[in-house]
Amino acid sequence: MRILMLCSEYEGLIKTGGLADACRGLTKALVEAGHQVLVLLPKYGSLYELTTHDWQSVYLTLGDRSFGCAVRHLEKDGVAVGLIEHHEFFQRLRPYDDGEHGYADNPLRFAFFCKAALTWCREQGFCPDIIHGHDWQTALAGVYLRQEQAQDDFFANSRFVFTIHNGAYQEVVAASWASQLELSVSAEPVNLLQQGIRSAAKLNTVSRGYRDELLSEPAANGLATLYQQRQTDFSGILNGCDYGLWHPAEDPHLVANYDWPDLIGKAACKTWLRQHHQLPEKPVPLYVAVSRITGQKGFDYLLPALEQWLPTTDSQVLIMGTGERHFTAALFALAARFKGQMSFVMGFDEAMAHKIEAGGDFFLMPSLFEPCGLNQIYSLRYGTLPIVRATGGLKDTVVPYPEPDCTGLHFGPATAVALVQALQQADALYQDQPAYLAMQQRGMAQLFSWQQAREQYEALYRAALAEN
Ligand code: ADP
Ligand code: GLC
Repeated sequence: MRILMLCSEYEGLIKTGGLADACRGLTKALVEAGHQVLVLLPKYGSLYELTTHDWQSVYLTLGDRSFGCAVRHLEKDGVAVGLIEHHEFFQRLRPYDDGEHGYADNPLRFAFFCKAALTWCREQGFCPDIIHGHDWQTALAGVYLRQEQAQDDFFANSRFVFTIHNGAYQEVVAASWASQLELSVSAEPVNLLQQGIRSAAKLNTVSRGYRDELLSEPAANGLATLYQQRQTDFSGILNGCDYGLWHPAEDPHLVANYDWPDLIGKAACKTWLRQHHQLPEKPVPLYVAVSRITGQKGFDYLLPALEQWLPTTDSQVLIMGTGERHFTAALFALAARFKGQMSFVMGFDEAMAHKIEAGGDFFLMPSLFEPCGLNQIYSLRYGTLPIVRATGGLKDTVVPYPEPDCTGLHFGPATAVALVQALQQADALYQDQPAYLAMQQRGMAQLFSWQQAREQYEALYRAALAEN
């Protein structure tokens, strides 16, 4: 199949979270299976240094404005990538926000991205079978595809498939935006995610559990009726893990590599991590987290839970992430109060994320909701037992203690009390080393393959193509 992959992030080029990992993992698996895939991505400020010799210019109109841009081509690990270059819209250091607020012109920026992608296809005579969009940033590609199809036959056989990686990010703007985005005018605010859900031939999200949650409120954030209307076209496909990047035996970021049953390297990773983050060597477990620091990830109750629990234990905590300032300030304050027991690293550091996955004993994911979650999947492979709130993809990927085939710990309510109980349970489990090791062994043997996910996407594409 010919597939146009529209994404706003791609691992190795630009990443703010798991969307980048998922877009790359799926694309690689599709290319390996022989599909012709082209990834299109905005050329953000951080990509400006990339020089590409192969490029085409594209001219388009959007609303009542005319634009010119360049599509610059490169190859990334055997995958063809086109970067859409437009200084006004994309030459900014961060993809979506200035560090605090989303850019006010985000709807226009990403509408432009979608329109430029379709215009480029037409000008190059590249007619994709599938246009696969990811999240609200690419949602309008479905609307514009239908407009193009009404105009002539060029895209007559193309179908739009839409994957929702996070249903909470919807990008809702005032009705007055409609005409400049070339949407039919109504009195209602414009919800970009909703436009994608409506216009897609098929849609999916990234786990079965989250798919089911989206059929009702409050998980659907106001769109439950729409998800219900599209229920037969709406599936859940669990993300895979790129074990080429996330494998403790081969990970170049680690001070020592390891794999079951020889975990000496893991112990060396833990020692390094402690030395590097001012946590003294002691026979206690190290709880870690690498996370976007947002409400979604449970920081509202993780912070009070740590405050209650840390004085009652000798266990140590290391958290790395970037995000909302009120949380990062509270994390710094907590780390200062529990110096030598808790450290907080503010930053986005790919290499350190791998080192933390390897050096921890337990990985914390108290998410309020989690469409899939990749960190718990990486943690399983690295022998770092995930402690997760039983929601969405977390529930689907971690088997809870004390089930016979357990790989991690679950807790239910999103409260400090429930989380403290889970932490106490984990402390006790760590004392029972045979049980802890058996869980590590099972977790490390889990396989979340992109091949399996790829086959499900192929079936979704075929079903989309079968539609009139
Ligand atoms: P989400 O996409 O909601 O942020 P996931 O668990 O699916 O959650 O994926 C998060 C991805 O982003 C993982 O690859 C994780 O390692 C990475 N990540 C998150 N925060 C950081 C950070 N501060 N530094 C490096 N990598 C990070
Ligand atoms: C989103 C979700 C996360 C998921 C990722 C990749 O960022 O929050 O749960 O793993 O997308 O699909």
